[in-house]
Amino acid sequence: MVRGCPGQFLELGVARWKSGGIAFAHTYQFMAKKQIRIGLIGYGFMGRAHSNAFAQVGHFFPSQHELVLQAVCARDAAKAQEFADRWGYKSIETDWKTLIARDDIDLVDIAVPNNLHAEIAIAAAKAGKMILCEKPLALNPAEAEKMVKAIAKAGVPNMVWYNYRRCPAVVLAKQLIDAGKLGKVFHYRANFLQDWTINPDLPQGGAALWRLDVKAAGSGVTGDLLAHCIDTALWLNGGIKDVSAMTETFIKERKHTLTGKVEKVGIDDACAFLCHFNNGSLGLFESTRYARGHKALYTFEVNGENMSLKWDLHDLHRLQIFDYKDVGAERGWKSVHVSDGDHPYTGKWWVPGLQLGYEHSFIHQVVEFISGLESGTPAKPDFKDGLATDYVVDAVLASAKSKKWTKVKQVKP
Ligand SMILES: NC(=O)c1ccc[n+]([C@@H]2O[C@H](COP(=O)([O-])OP(=O)(O)OC[C@H]3O[C@@H](n4cnc5c(N)ncnc54)[C@H](O)[C@@H]3O)[C@@H](O)[C@H]2O)c1
Repeated sequence: MVRGCPGQFLELGVARWKSGGIAFAHTYQFMAKKQIRIGLIGYGFMGRAHSNAFAQVGHFFPSQHELVLQAVCARDAAKAQEFADRWGYKSIETDWKTLIARDDIDLVDIAVPNNLHAEIAIAAAKAGKMILCEKPLALNPAEAEKMVKAIAKAGVPNMVWYNYRRCPAVVLAKQLIDAGKLGKVFHYRANFLQDWTINPDLPQGGAALWRLDVKAAGSGVTGDLLAHCIDTALWLNGGIKDVSAMTETFIKERKHTLTGKVEKVGIDDACAFLCHFNNGSLGLFESTRYARGHKALYTFEVNGENMSLKWDLHDLHRLQIFDYKDVGAERGWKSVHVSDGDHPYTGKWWVPGLQLGYEHSFIHQVVEFISGLESGTPAKPDFKDGLATDYVVDAVLASAKSKKWTKVKQVKP
């Protein structure tokens, strides 16, 4: 007899079978999985990355939870239906408010442009839904603070998709830092370089180019690309005290896709900033969409007293390590292929030596979210962590404007 409800152990009884003439009796139990019925909002780049993660995670990381692709929401019903059919979503909605109001949705996943994050997340929190939200958390800290308040009041599990934290090589860097292997850290530097907006004829705004429209994006490379670098830095090297920044908008006017008029460009095309970390180390960050030849070159380097680490998104399964302890003529940088059975996450995938890619960082984030539900220690980065990054972004933009060193607001514990 099978009794019980999701989340309870079910006694299935005694199974008997014969093998090699010996009879075995085995009592086994299994955990009836607790369903998390997902409502995804937005089916673009991130809608696909998240859907792939939801679909894959259970195959490689068994847990007490089962993710159900319950509904996808987008404004165009035909396109939403096509996406639902392709990815296996059971239903569609064309209005995110209707999606949030549904009783059969447990988790709202926000994968839409930045200007929609706050309104959707606050409504989802009020409806008691778990929330996964894309980065940056919000257009600005004022919005992000409201989001943090809303999830605190509702007490709902939440996470921000700063997925690079979950590349195995980046987690290995975190483990080495937390184990004290670097000793005192002196420098942290990061770059995120692209080249896709150099053409002055590229319009701004609309479905494809919302990133160039300040009203939809909030900022340019600072909130888009540097937000990733900042989140990883805060995780690996702790809080940032103050910043001194410069930004540039190389193309001052672009035609707006929605109005058809040539309008002022409000985003930053490039940004560089210096900072002091709370641990006394110095930081140097740079991002641009005008570095011809670079598509998505995210790199970081940490220099400690005893060890230095380097990581590069184009080689994301490797961690470069220089260990001062190594002696002799063969000392030098080593490149660790982070794919062995005892490396972070990798033992759950293929045999040692086979590397993982970009999509796995999203799958690992879902692993962390589910582990957080099951262990009671909430997954990171959560909305508060997202707010911390938004504070740094805000200080960077303010410093670029004022041309002065600017203090970074700290998140209250
Ligand atoms: N974690 C990462 O590495 C990463 C990478 C890319 C983008 N992002 C973030 O993800 C978010 C989405 O970016 P993207 O690249 O997927 O954008 P995208 O343009 O590819 O997709 C956006 C989706 O939102 C939908 N949408 C817009 N308005 C909507 C509305 N009112 N209701 C329902 N759907 C609506 C669009 O139809 C589209 O499907 C942004 O916040 C972005 O910053 C994060």
